[in-house]
Amino acid sequence: MAGGFVSQTPGVRNYNYKLTPKVFVTCFIGAFGGLIFGYDLGISGGVTSMEPFLEEFFPYVYKKMKSAHENEYCRFDSQLLTLFTSSLYVAALISSLFASTITRVFGRKWSMFLGGFTFFIGSAFNGFAQNIAMLLIGRILLGFGVGFANQSVPVYLSEMAPPNLRGAFNNGFQVAIIFGIVVATIINYFTAQMKGNIGWRISLGLACVPAVMIMIGALILPDTPNSLIERGYTEEAKKMLQSIRGTDEVDEEFQDLIDASEESKQVKHPWRNILLPRYRPQLIMTCFIPFFQQLTGINVITFYAPVLFQTLGFGSKASLLSAMVTGIIELLCTFVSVFTVDRFGRRILFLQGGIQMLISQIAIGIMIGVKFGVAGTGNIGKTDANLIVALICIYVAGFAWSWGPLGWLVPSEISPLEIRSAAQAINVAVNMFFTFLVAQLFLTMLCHMKFGLFFFFAFFVVIMTIFIYMMLPETKNVPIEEMNRVWKAHWFWGRFIPDEAVNMGAAEMQQKSV
Ligand code: BGC
Repeated sequence: MAGGFVSQTPGVRNYNYKLTPKVFVTCFIGAFGGLIFGYDLGISGGVTSMEPFLEEFFPYVYKKMKSAHENEYCRFDSQLLTLFTSSLYVAALISSLFASTITRVFGRKWSMFLGGFTFFIGSAFNGFAQNIAMLLIGRILLGFGVGFANQSVPVYLSEMAPPNLRGAFNNGFQVAIIFGIVVATIINYFTAQMKGNIGWRISLGLACVPAVMIMIGALILPDTPNSLIERGYTEEAKKMLQSIRGTDEVDEEFQDLIDASEESKQVKHPWRNILLPRYRPQLIMTCFIPFFQQLTGINVITFYAPVLFQTLGFGSKASLLSAMVTGIIELLCTFVSVFTVDRFGRRILFLQGGIQMLISQIAIGIMIGVKFGVAGTGNIGKTDANLIVALICIYVAGFAWSWGPLGWLVPSEISPLEIRSAAQAINVAVNMFFTFLVAQLFLTMLCHMKFGLFFFFAFFVVIMTIFIYMMLPETKNVPIEEMNRVWKAHWFWGRFIPDEAVNMGAAEMQQKSV
């Protein structure tokens, strides 16, 4: 156990805490929630490029893929095939809205449990699928699971973590997502070599493993002090806070949680309240951050890397291998964020990552344009193909320490308790909606916009980088219940925050009442 820490951010209160094994283990298990999302993200791209799978369920795409005359950009274009990938995200969108009520009323852990449970059933439907209907029902159930987990896990981690390390702990979610993706691509690499239908069945069916992990994890996890207070268990909340902070001297933080809870009790309708002007910064951020995260174009790589690499002329085995390499790079680079986010802050990572993604996307667009032209015919040499893979890795690295983890961290840490569950549900719903759109439209967009697609995403990266520069205040080290001070101090958002909304701690409250 490390020694005691006191957070040192000017203008915000400092709490006492130690980095306890308990908070570490709890957040580690909590982060498992990201595994189911990641496994799914990683598995679908590989499965949809397996020939036996395509032959069984999508014979039309299979025939087209085999046709030698097909335009390279359009080889895999099929709405039904993309529906297989994207149906999950519509389900996740819907379930995240229900999840917000369960997370608030029953606690964060039960949303996680439900997430694991529905994901488990979905994996069985998919592993044993006999027809398209079973496949789609399975996908929808998996989607429900993802919605529940993504709504509750980031909030859970942000609430458990000590303020000074909230970024690092919360990034555990993204690490788990990417770990899930990497494991899935490795599994795909091996199952793709199996004859007949067994390969894709194993790939899809093994989704039950992360599902069981999150179910067991959720059963043994304690709930957060914030959630215990919110549900009236004040004594238990204080004990929990003492045990995760490793000290009995938690009065100041505890009082802030109580104050935040009192304030939130005045709010009967989180969904209506989030529309009030005083929550404008949170509303805008929880809509725009996930929107922009998806408009980085990352999921073009996540879902379709194998397909994209095949389009570039790689064999199917080489394509899966390249997808594995980009996944491993993404995993390693996410740790850069884990170790720097609380030291250097969110803004610098967002800005640096954005510029890196921009440069690599433009370079990829130019290279593909030069090689395939508008007609989409031609061949790409080995050196050029490798160069494109290297550029994709640079792009993925940029995302991995910026928009990937921060797209989940920032929305989960900026909202006061009274709107937190609703805000996180909006975050997940917007994220899922645009994940759906990108998944559904990518192959068609590639077919029509050709290499211009990379410029399309680059354009959005420019906009989002300017947006962060102008609109996002730094939130590193700020206790989660103290966030209003940060908004109040911002050149633009300050006007929306009433003076009394800047949360007062016990000492100030007493002073004021004397
Ligand atoms: C995003 C996903 C993405 C994943 C891996 C997550 O933060 O929300 O859409 O697939 O990172 O890159």
